Amino acid sequence: MIIAMGADHAGFLLKEKIKEYLIKKGFEIRDFGTDSDKSCDYPDYGFLVGDFVSKNRTSLGILICGTGIGMSISANRIPNVRAALCHREDFARLARQHNHANILCLSGRFLQEDEGFKIVDAFLEAKPEKGRHKRRVEKLG
Ligand code: RB5
Repeated sequence: MIIAMGADHAGFLLKEKIKEYLIKKGFEIRDFGTDSDKSCDYPDYGFLVGDFVSKNRTSLGILICGTGIGMSISANRIPNVRAALCHREDFARLARQHNHANILCLSGRFLQEDEGFKIVDAFLEAKPEKGRHKRRVEKLG
């Protein structure tokens, strides 16, 4: 499974830390940038990662900006994307299980690195649940 990653300047540092963490765990990462803490615009990266996840249905994405809000708004404009902004492990787990979220959005400014790792682990380890949850996700189109 490929993990597509993207961030703006405010998420750059946490993106680099999470990328390193996931590579050590054996994940294949596709990094769409940004490549520094120089100011840039979150929609540019939200759309790139959203497009990739939309076209590669077995992949998942991680997007990081200052709050995670801009990234979630951007990515959710792309068809087939279900981007969830999560500040807690249990939200990340439930976003996968109940909402079949395929992109995790994180805050680079309000999360410590170890909190970010735990939220990412919860997201990647959880599996989408069938039954009523599948039916509800299908209604999203
Ligand atoms: C950048 O200053 C900040 O506005 C951006 O990273 C993000 O938090 C927007 O939602």
